[in-house]
This record gives sequence, structure tokens and C-alpha cells, in this order.
Amino acid sequence: MQIFKTIQEMRAACSLAKGGGQRLGLVPTMGALHEGHLSLVRTAKAQCDAVAASIFVNPTQFGPNEDFAKYPRSFERDCEILEQEAVDLLFAPAVEEMYPQGMTTWVTVEGLSDKLCGKARPGHFRGVTTVVAKLFQIVQPDAGFFGQKDAAQLAIIRRMVRDLNFAVEIVACPVVREPDGLAMSSRNAYLDPQQRRAAPVLYRSLLKIQEVFKRGEHRADKLIDSGKQTITEEHSVRLDYLEIVDPDTLDHADEISKTTLVAIAGYLGSTRLIDNIHLSTE
Ligand code: PAF
Repeated sequence: MQIFKTIQEMRAACSLAKGGGQRLGLVPTMGALHEGHLSLVRTAKAQCDAVAASIFVNPTQFGPNEDFAKYPRSFERDCEILEQEAVDLLFAPAVEEMYPQGMTTWVTVEGLSDKLCGKARPGHFRGVTTVVAKLFQIVQPDAGFFGQKDAAQLAIIRRMVRDLNFAVEIVACPVVREPDGLAMSSRNAYLDPQQRRAAPVLYRSLLKIQEVFKRGEHRADKLIDSGKQTITEEHSVRLDYLEIVDPDTLDHADEISKTTLVAIAGYLGSTRLIDNIHLSTE
């Protein structure tokens, strides 16, 4: 695996990797890699001739009181993992390389960026879309691989790609879970043992909604009530949101129709975790 820290070197290596019509995949990450990231890499390997990954803890997607400084960083270990997965190119720029002095251009997907996680994290999605747009510009991938766990991020990136005519196919990969159902996340490392035991209640509340839906309840408010009831089983979990929305527009849905996204976010102490499932009438 070749590792690059500058945009110029990464751009040159990617252009070489794409030579002769090779399909280049990009797996953007913030490091602290877990099985969820590996499933993105493996899907990219299966679908592309060459795979690039990036490790960049992107400061612009963290709010002033969020965990940018303490976000888990394990660069050496991450490199070993990516090497084992036979990733071809790794881009690991410094903050100054991605955000040089005087940078004033931002990419904002209006109308979607203030929904779901965007409500509690103002500016978060602007940071995500700006850095992903920059990565797409640098790597020029044929396909970008993103986890379904960040369903709002996925919808917003898809919209950005459509609106700005990026020639990138966005591939969504399923949520990877721990044996007790907790969605894998780099932030799970923050949980103390008691919080770790409580955390799967987020997924259990989604499963409860699925169960009630399968029994014939399609009204969103009733389904949300049943999910909220499950959340109360764990007093240490503070619900941020539990919403039923259109997966493309993130607009509220009154009832389940075609494919609908059920998304949840909750706090365990100061750690904010998210999860989601899709329900479909088709
Ligand atoms: O999902 C993430 O890890 C980040 O939001 C991403 C897409 C790498 C952008 O920093």
C-alpha cells in the first residue's frame, strides 16, 4: 500500500491507478477502523480494480463542543489493517493540507443538512460534504463507498453528487453490528461497561418498530411510540431523535410507504450514537 500525505502526490497516484480504464474505488474514513469500515473496503475491492482509502479526522464536521480532540486515532494500526485488506492507496493528509489558510469555500446541501443529526449538530453536514467533495476532486474515484449507518450522510452525499454532477457512483454498504445488535462505530470505544450494556437498546427499539410494523401498523406516530417505549427500558439512554422519514429527502413520513427510513440517535453520557433500519411495503 502506498501512503500519501499531499494532495499533489495522491492526485498523481490516483490518476495512474485509473490509467487504461481501471475502476478506482474510494473508501473515505476518519480512521479508528472497525469491521464496518472493513466491509466498505471489501465491497470496494470486490467492485473495483484499485481501491483508495483516506484517513482524515475532519475538523470541520465537529462542533465547538464536540469530540474532535479526543476522537480515537490509531494511525499505525489502521495502516496495518488496510495493508492486510490489500488497499492500494492511502491518503492521510494533515489538516493544513486539506484546509489551507484562507480557504472560504463550502459545500452545503440545503434543506437536508439541518435534518436528523443536522438538528443537534449544526454545521456538521456542511463539513462532511465539503471534505467529501474535496476528496472526490483529489481522487476522482469511479465509486465511493459509504456505510448505511450514517443514513442522513448518505442521502446528503447522494444529493450533492447529483446536484454537482460528480461522476461518482455512491455505493451504500449495510450496517455491521456487534453480536448484541449494537451498530459498529468508532465512538463505541467511549462507552464505559455500563453504557456498553445499555447501548443495544437503540437497535432493540428499531426492532420493536419493525415488529409492530409487521403486525400491520403503518402509521408513523404509532410506530414511533412503540420504539420510544422500548428506549425507556434503559434509563441511562437519552433519546435525541427517533424519526420516520423518506430516505432521499429526509422529510417526515406520516406512514410507511415503499421504502422508509427509521432513524434513531441517543446519548449515553456524552457519547452520541446513531442507528437506523428501513421498512418497506414493497
Ligand atoms: O463517515 C465518516 O467517517 C465521515 O463523515 C467521512 C465520510 C469520512 C467524512 O469525513
